[in-house]
Amino acid sequence: MRTIIAGVGHFVPDRKLSNKDFEEMVDTNDEWITTRTGIKERRILDKNKGTSHMAAKAAKMVLKQTQISADEIDLIIVATVTPDRPVPATAAFVQKQLNAKNCWGYDLNGGCTGFLCALATGSQFIETGRHQKVLVIGADKMSSIINYKDRTTCVLFGDAAGAVLLEPSNDDGLGVEDFILHLDGLGADYLEIPAGGSLQPASRETVAQNLHFVYQDGRTVFKHAVSGMAEVSAEIMEKNKLTNKDIKCLIPHQANLRIIDAAAKRMGLNPDQVVINISKYGNTTAATIPLAMSEAYQERKIRKGDWIVISAFGAGFTWGSLLLKWAI
Ligand code: ACO
Repeated sequence: MRTIIAGVGHFVPDRKLSNKDFEEMVDTNDEWITTRTGIKERRILDKNKGTSHMAAKAAKMVLKQTQISADEIDLIIVATVTPDRPVPATAAFVQKQLNAKNCWGYDLNGGCTGFLCALATGSQFIETGRHQKVLVIGADKMSSIINYKDRTTCVLFGDAAGAVLLEPSNDDGLGVEDFILHLDGLGADYLEIPAGGSLQPASRETVAQNLHFVYQDGRTVFKHAVSGMAEVSAEIMEKNKLTNKDIKCLIPHQANLRIIDAAAKRMGLNPDQVVINISKYGNTTAATIPLAMSEAYQERKIRKGDWIVISAFGAGFTWGSLLLKWAI
């Protein structure tokens, strides 16, 4: 049994925060942000809404597109680093908003690689024949964990969600072909939220020291992201005996245009073979890939039978690639 993506959807909040807006908030400018990252603006969710709000909206778009009812869903996997609450899982809030009565579900934290990890995991439930309809969601409200006084991180991130429906197919040529995933905990200290977990629970002191915000050593993360994402993207092509001419497009995690360019170059792809929307949304962590995939599908940039490579790098460090043949 093969796993196909039977539908894809996304949600982005209406409110925009542009590079110009940041010029009023911290010591930065549009030119620095654009040339270093490729980002022009990002979306920000209302303060009183959580990640599940966006996740459920993206999922509803998928249900409408595929014309299936919420009761048909077997499993909901939500990749996120910004759960609505530490407990319970955001999947529970999504289930409630969808009123999906016949499923189970859980959250998965794979950092910026979260959606890829969730897609690989979800595909196993289909391939074993255990489940027929698996919702895989990548969603993050990064604005809830960003210090808007820290110019080195605040300009990079935004809020969004994307979702896909996984279904079985007997067509040997379609769907998920292969994936390669890595985890290296030596990277843990270079991209983290120091407090709020079991090691350093939230306290007056941790809040006063802003330890519940995202910290990163940008240069170190950048270096590892460039080599990690480029190598694994090329590896999955070579392992499956595909060349740059066989690949319709790369749908990369959108953290930095320069990281994406390095991966595309290593794969030998032309610019028109890479799906890029970072200028509009910034880094939305687990949401970047399904959001880019959904837009590419809506714009008819990907069609049935196309070979697609999905690649990501993120906190952990985690990184990897997934190869699939588009099925809808
Ligand atoms: N505006 C103006 N100047 C800034 C800003 C800003 N927003 N942020 C940092 N600077 C300054 C720095 O303070 C530094 O000044 P200094 O030389 O006087 O010390 C200078 O700009 C250069 O800083 P670098 O960190 O070396 O800049 P770099 O070219 O590496 O770009 C960036 C920084 C964009 C963060 C880059 O390192 C990067 O993209 N790293 C990847 C990290 C990432 O995207 N993480 C997200 C999650 S993981 C993932 O998704 C891959």
